[in-house]
Amino acid sequence: MTRFTVTVDGVDYDDDVEPRLLLVHYLRERLGKVGTVVGCDTSNCGACTVLMDGKSVKSCTVLAVQSDGGEVTTIEGLSTDGELHPVQQAFHEAHALQCGFCTPGMILAAVDLLSENPDPSVEEIKEGIEGNLCRCTGYQNIIKAVRAAAASAPAAAATSTAGGSS
Ligand code: FES
Ligand code: FES
Repeated sequence: MTRFTVTVDGVDYDDDVEPRLLLVHYLRERLGKVGTVVGCDTSNCGACTVLMDGKSVKSCTVLAVQSDGGEVTTIEGLSTDGELHPVQQAFHEAHALQCGFCTPGMILAAVDLLSENPDPSVEEIKEGIEGNLCRCTGYQNIIKAVRAAAASAPAAAATSTAGGSS
């Protein structure tokens, strides 16, 4: 077992885990963060995307202990005081989801994109979310949602990823 500390969605954890435990399994099985989902076993789909120290990562490709001393934000920590994050709100308003399975990862990838590029072009959005697959909505409304988030609240979209509704 390996001891590590991590802040997830604004809450500090100090845990013992198997060194081989993947971050996605730590989040889901140890912390109950089931909004982070597993959509493949090939590191392709991006459904498991979270923010680690502000950068999007596929949590099925990261060991839990690699987050030691860091900060992880899942979809469950994105809203603040019951208010949806601007990117969540934009996905809702643009009907950018159907089954919703890809949505947590897609939103967190978009948050990372907007933190680096607050006003991305359509091409830049396509590049920014290319690691995230959606098998039902198609990408038109997802791209519209990211554009809308950028237009409506660029500063908030870029920065409100501290995690937690605390
Ligand atoms: S579960 Fe598909 S990339 Fe992680
Ligand atoms: S909304 Fe169903 S996979 Fe994207």
